[in-house]
Amino acid sequence: MRHLLGMDDLDRDRIETILERALSFAEVSRREIKKVPTLRGQTVVTLFYESSTRTSSSFELAAKRLSADVVSVKASGSAVDKGESLKDTIETLSAYDPAAIVLRHPHAGASHMLADWVDASVINAGDGMHQHPSQALLDIFTLREQIGSLEGREIWIVGDVLHSRVARSNIIGFQAMGAKVIVAGPPTLIPRGIEATGCEVRYSLDDVDSADVIYLLRMQHERMDQNFVPSIREYARLFQLNSRRLGPRQLVMHPGPVNRGVEISSDVLDCDQSLIAQQVASGLVVRMAILYELLTGSENFAAGQPDSDPVPIGEPA
Ligand code: CP
Repeated sequence: MRHLLGMDDLDRDRIETILERALSFAEVSRREIKKVPTLRGQTVVTLFYESSTRTSSSFELAAKRLSADVVSVKASGSAVDKGESLKDTIETLSAYDPAAIVLRHPHAGASHMLADWVDASVINAGDGMHQHPSQALLDIFTLREQIGSLEGREIWIVGDVLHSRVARSNIIGFQAMGAKVIVAGPPTLIPRGIEATGCEVRYSLDDVDSADVIYLLRMQHERMDQNFVPSIREYARLFQLNSRRLGPRQLVMHPGPVNRGVEISSDVLDCDQSLIAQQVASGLVVRMAILYELLTGSENFAAGQPDSDPVPIGEPA
């Protein structure tokens, strides 16, 4: 595996490999010295053309925990402000001979384009409304830690599915792991024809009590050029997950950032059934695993190397 551009790049075995690796890095993260020398001497560039807190910080920390040198560039405040194109920015950063480039960009397909231009491994950290594969992997990891296998579980993805790259990646990822996926939201925020991906569609939360997991999405106003709901108050009345709607055995997830009081009430956000903090913690170890898989060329592991020592990640750096 050279690049991670979308969840459709990964079959179930490949997902399992990354999750196993992440589990090992979770063990490393509990050690006093959390750093391993795996990527010493290699450079990882993170290049973000859109705002980010979780993805940018966790990829940066993941690369540092693996002892890589890290160059972090945010488009805002860089030469992009002076009119430099993506291609020229990439040519500039390629002078540092990066082993991996982590790209977030507002245009769908930007990371695919980048993969054609560079020798480095490319990781899609979110491209427009298209995909956000590392988010899907960390969500699967988080759920597996909590409930074990996803086989036969019912996962509802609720909210602004239309503008959500997380939804597109998670529909593929959850289904690959055997879950049944239902998307729910106002008709204006559900993409036409999404059933072709294998999920079911609901336009209300009337039946949400059958869900094992309720995965909430925020309204992505930055991608909207018109009003998709009559008002936020009306949207919250119909689709907010609050303590009245949440059953005692159901788990709550959200990729963040959260809009308290819109898609989720404060009490649900902070309750014991919420996995949102765990999702952030999983982001670090899953992104370490992604970098590891791409940059150490561990095809051997994927092909079934010894299970007794599945993660030769080395001594503390
Ligand atoms: N979930 C997610 O992508 O969050 P950030 O925008 O903070 O990276």
